[in-house]
Amino acid sequence: MTVDAATFRNTLGCFASGVTVVTAADADGTPVGVTVSAFSSLSLDPPLVLFCLDRKTSHLDVFRTSGHFAVHVLAENQRDVSARFAKRGDDKWDGLDFSRGNNGSPLLPGCLASMECTTTAIHEGGDHLVFVGQVDRASASDTGKPLLYFRGNYAALARLVTAS
Ligand SMILES: Cc1cc2nc3c(=O)[nH]c(=O)nc-3n(C[C@H](O)[C@H](O)[C@H](O)COP(=O)(O)O)c2cc1C
Repeated sequence: MTVDAATFRNTLGCFASGVTVVTAADADGTPVGVTVSAFSSLSLDPPLVLFCLDRKTSHLDVFRTSGHFAVHVLAENQRDVSARFAKRGDDKWDGLDFSRGNNGSPLLPGCLASMECTTTAIHEGGDHLVFVGQVDRASASDTGKPLLYFRGNYAALARLVTAS
């Protein structure tokens, strides 16, 4: 017996997350990118992160073969960026200003944080693939708030409280 799909979705929607855009480049340097909330830190030593990609993602093969990817943690004013990379199609990059990281991955401006990664493993995960990467370079803004995702809607951080 397994949980039904609607209950599963509703339950997972209670787990508030940030929103990232994960990018990579194909052998010709053509950029690809997908909005991803299934992102997590994995290991401190070595520094590893992971994200989960639907097998139906248009450019799955680019992520599989590139060997590198970049993760962008979106800021609260980047809902448009999230929507752009959550839309299917090859026009995601139209009119968008971006640079290149040391590993060739496309880097988006104005994000709360970004990480340039080398893919170290790709695991099966049902209808998704789990990409694990070592973080080679990272940068984080000291100010600004994250874009959040909760119960299928975007949300904003109201206030910070100390963890202890
Ligand atoms: C807030 C948000 C979070 C998402 N998280 C994921 C995710 O973790 N993994 C995933 O594969 N798709 C996720 N998606 C869906 C993809 O962004 C969407 O399917 C996108 O169209 C895929 O683009 P492509 O198939 O053109 O590459 C998310 C969408 C939104 C709006």
